[in-house]
Amino acid sequence: TAIFVPFTTQELFDNGKESLYYGLNALSNNLIMVDRKKLKNPNGLILGTPGSGKSFSAKREICNAFLVTDDDILVCDPESEYAPLVERLHGQVIHISPSSTQYINPMDINTNYSEEDNPLALKADFILSLCELVVGGKEGLKPVEKTVIDRCVHKIYAPYFEHPCPETVPMLEDLYNALLTQDEPEAHHVAAALEIYVKGSLNIFNHRTNVDIDNRIVCYDIKQLGKQLKKLGMLIVQDQVWGRVTANRSVGKSTRYYADEFHLLLKDEQTAAYSVEIWKRFRKWGGIPTALTQNVKDLLASPEVSNIFENSDFVYMLNQANGDRQILAKQLNISPHQLSYVTHSGEGEGLLFFGNVILPFVDHFPKDLELYRILTTRLSEVVEAKHE
Ligand SMILES: Nc1ncnc2c1ncn2[C@@H]1O[C@H](COP(=O)(O)OP(=O)(O)OP(=O)(O)O)[C@@H](O)[C@H]1O
Ligand SMILES: [Mg+2]
Repeated sequence: TAIFVPFTTQELFDNGKESLYYGLNALSNNLIMVDRKKLKNPNGLILGTPGSGKSFSAKREICNAFLVTDDDILVCDPESEYAPLVERLHGQVIHISPSSTQYINPMDINTNYSEEDNPLALKADFILSLCELVVGGKEGLKPVEKTVIDRCVHKIYAPYFEHPCPETVPMLEDLYNALLTQDEPEAHHVAAALEIYVKGSLNIFNHRTNVDIDNRIVCYDIKQLGKQLKKLGMLIVQDQVWGRVTANRSVGKSTRYYADEFHLLLKDEQTAAYSVEIWKRFRKWGGIPTALTQNVKDLLASPEVSNIFENSDFVYMLNQANGDRQILAKQLNISPHQLSYVTHSGEGEGLLFFGNVILPFVDHFPKDLELYRILTTRLSEVVEAKHE
């Protein structure tokens, strides 16, 4: 018996009320069931080469969490692949694109938006990031530009804080107009750069929110946004998520947030900084963010961004490219044997980092289930499902 029972294997099995399935232990074949909320830090990363099963495992977790927990679920979907699942769960899919009539307003705010008495300080920070993306060149915003933007932000939100209701939430246009009334030439420079987003062809973010962003599961589909708008879109979605997290906290509810293709946000300094900030703040507010990315190098590119790595106690690591493997081995101190589980591994196979525990897992999802057809992105299978 001693030969056949590897009694030194470690297990991850928690039969708590909210524990979710993450695959089978590759050493013992026992179920891996854990509850990320019990971690010191529930923030998670899903890492792997293209096609290794990142999005698939995120969708599986979403489905599981939807059925088992009461948490709200939000998805930022740059590849337009979560809609079948979200629609099946009767959630809201929001298509954000220049030709769409579904809008979200980047200026949305609620009175719980920040812990301090002044929700506006945080909102101003977001709007600065947004302007930086739009106006700032390589060097970012100049100090005077920041000052005038901040001044105008305070001005345009004044009516809202006097009478907080949907009609008094400002729009980008209000910011634009306020900037034009300032004396500094810098203000006019920022306004000129904003113009295309207010009056020009990129004015999709200059509308009041007109979709049900309070559904229990919301998917922001930003695939149709061009390259420049995509970053802006992701930033705005992240802010919408933050709004929801803060609103949920006041009613004692957790919010799960999935950000696919997360590396897109890490390329620009400003959006990266904002994402890092969110990452740090989420936990205290009952947020459970999960980032999916192919590119480990981007995650470790700067000391600031590697913060995200250090602040994630849940890492679902699928097959890794050679260069990334070396970096990860060093960063996470994993043995060559453990590395073998993420070397040329199949779909849904890899290493799970849960707090201090590292376990190899296998999750071969049965392909004959209806759920599989909803989760898959393989073109031939998607087409087949459509014909049925
Ligand atoms: N656990 C699994 N069990 C069975 N099949 C899987 C599993 N994970 C992934 N697959 C298969 O692999 C395909 C690709 O997976 P997925 O879309 O998750 O890749 P990805 O890592 O998100 O890739 P990309 O970086 O291109 O987005 C799925 O459509 C599915 O057919
Ligand atoms: Mg994917």
